Amino acid sequence: MKYSNKLHLIKKIFVEKIKKNSRFNYPLLTDGYSSSDLQEASKVLLSGRLTMSQITKKFEEYFAQKIGSKFALMVNSGSSANLLALFCLINPLRKKKLKKGDECIVPALCWSTSLWPIIQAGLKPVLADVNLKTFTLDLENIKKKITKRTKAVMILNVLGNCSEMEKIKTYLNKKKIFLIEDSCEALGSKYKKKYLGTYGDFGTYSFYYSHQVTSGEGGMIVCNSKEDFNILKSLRAHGWDREINKKNIKNFNFINEGFNLRPLDITAAIGFNQFKRLSKLKSTRAKNRNNLIKFIKSSKKWNDQYSFFNPQKNLDPSWFGFPLMINNKSVKSKKSFLKYLNKNKIETRPIISGNFANQPAIKKYNIKYKKKDLKNSQEIEDRGFFIGLPTKILDSSKINKITNLLLNVNNF
Ligand SMILES: Cc1ncc(COP(=O)(O)O)c(C=O)c1O
Repeated sequence: MKYSNKLHLIKKIFVEKIKKNSRFNYPLLTDGYSSSDLQEASKVLLSGRLTMSQITKKFEEYFAQKIGSKFALMVNSGSSANLLALFCLINPLRKKKLKKGDECIVPALCWSTSLWPIIQAGLKPVLADVNLKTFTLDLENIKKKITKRTKAVMILNVLGNCSEMEKIKTYLNKKKIFLIEDSCEALGSKYKKKYLGTYGDFGTYSFYYSHQVTSGEGGMIVCNSKEDFNILKSLRAHGWDREINKKNIKNFNFINEGFNLRPLDITAAIGFNQFKRLSKLKSTRAKNRNNLIKFIKSSKKWNDQYSFFNPQKNLDPSWFGFPLMINNKSVKSKKSFLKYLNKNKIETRPIISGNFANQPAIKKYNIKYKKKDLKNSQEIEDRGFFIGLPTKILDSSKINKITNLLLNVNNF
């Protein structure tokens, strides 16, 4: 029997075992790795070299070319990609750099490691509200928070969606404000034929569990400037110039400060293999999303219990999950309803992490905000949650079960 066939059989046995032991019948992601992903990973294991090497490099080059960016650099997580973007902007090797206390606008509906790198880099985060329809920071929200000290904006392309990126980019360019696009939840989404993540000076992606490409851990950062790319390379690995200067005089030549945020070649191998079939994964998720909405809206139990997420006009979305906004009085019992879904083996998540201004750490770091300025972010936290969108087509009996459970929201 061929090695690939053997692997396929072994995987089938393991997947059944995992399913049996899983807490959820409908987790955020089922069976995330194909046999060929595992085969690529096992080739790396058998090569004896697990650390970052040629596969990472090949993946980076392929990724940059496909996504339409000049440069791509792989790191060990989406969080690390955000960290590198911010530390690149303040780096002494950069001609035009930000300085301590410069302001960076960030949506209140954000992930922790979209916000913390701003603070870690010595900048001042300014929390802005988001658009209630798209869950993203739009131009009006940005304009409300712009001051003379605004030097950067961190946008989050939530769950595959976006704002009017061209308008935002043009506005920020005029004002000479940097744009970082946290596209950790939006790999493969295209706005006006350009991939999300490529509108910004930096675009970041995550390959964590249940994201559009999932290699366990992993992330990518893209940019178009060679100066930035070289800074990112040195920051990723200790501050040395090994990946920049081919004719470096010494093996350990430190030209910059640095971290160690390198990925493993094994995660690159899985990520690379999955990335090659991103368009298939994307279209399957889109079909599942459309079917879920169709079944919910055509059910006898349908009574406008939910609103669905609106994709931005001109967006070809690559969905991450299936968000729902509870419409009626049941909003108050959202907590007990989510417990009910969990008890019935449906895994749920908040939208990003809700209104981040409510997190205890915000007080510790003295981040000022006015509650009334963040009404939409709060409403999304109060009414919203999401469930997974599998990368295999959902059959109608499964969709019926999920629909039935979801439409019980009024009973709480
Ligand atoms: C918007 C956003 N940014 C950043 C991250 C961090 O990515 P990672 O988990 O790969 O560190 C996530 C994680 O899910 C995210 O949703």
